[in-house]
Amino acid sequence: MREGPKPPRPAPRGPDRKVQRPQNPPLRIQTTTLWEYPSQHYGNAIQGDARYVGATPSYVIWNVIQRYTQKGDRVIDPMCGSGTTLDVAKDTGRVARGFDLSPYRPDIERADARELPIESGAAQLVFVDPPYGDHIDYSNEPDCIGKLSAYDPRYYEQMGKVLKECARVLAPGGVLAVYVCDFFEKKKGFAPVGLQLFATMASLLEPIDVVSVVRHHKTLQMGNYHRAAEEQNFFLRGFNYLFLARKPEGRRGEPAGRGRSAARRR
Ligand SMILES: C[S@@+](CC[C@H](N)C(=O)[O-])C[C@H]1O[C@@H](n2cnc3c(N)ncnc32)[C@H](O)[C@@H]1O
Repeated sequence: MREGPKPPRPAPRGPDRKVQRPQNPPLRIQTTTLWEYPSQHYGNAIQGDARYVGATPSYVIWNVIQRYTQKGDRVIDPMCGSGTTLDVAKDTGRVARGFDLSPYRPDIERADARELPIESGAAQLVFVDPPYGDHIDYSNEPDCIGKLSAYDPRYYEQMGKVLKECARVLAPGGVLAVYVCDFFEKKKGFAPVGLQLFATMASLLEPIDVVSVVRHHKTLQMGNYHRAAEEQNFFLRGFNYLFLARKPEGRRGEPAGRGRSAARRR
């Protein structure tokens, strides 16, 4: 069984920034490989769109930006969705470009993540939160990778192309961050999306680390989902992976930037 009914399409286009929300705790650099923050957004604003199904929690992007870039550095999001990466980059003084097959707002450029209109070596950071199966209806675009099931080998082939393109547009020493989740359907079983994408990523770049990001998904607050997981003996998805890898500098065995302190980058 899926974790829940098929979610609706993303909300109508255009950001809605009038949402009233409780005060969020201050942002901190996460120092272990287990990341948690209680809100999808930080501060008093909203990064990306709160109504967008499948939006990335903005503190994840904030943390990656703080660790691996400096002010003025170029950041690319090839599957930009509601634009969370663009908003976090703006907050932190980085220069970002966001692409999507189905742009949600005017500052997102229309492009296929497998063929980005960017020269090689242009970015210090590429952040990508791809579809990880066909459970969300992102758009009517036939080339949307979210039309491919996590059980279909074509999903991994197409995501391989996306990861290769991400590696191409990174500058030597630049970092690729991939935020993704595994998939489970009762009839079909477990689809280890994360481990398969990580293997591809590690064949293209030098792995830095693997982080587990605690999910605060709505279904995790629902008693009936927990009951079903217990009675039918399956697991709800409790975390997303954040895979981090670096493009080699050129000199073998000595990737760039590992010695630079996070403090200098802010
Ligand atoms: C999980 S969402 C990204 C969420 C985004 N990080 C945010 O915070 O809103 C995945 C996105 O990938 C896009 N997408 C799917 N296939 C694509 C492709 N071939 N090229 C570019 N974008 C694609 C979808 O349109 C969707 O917006």
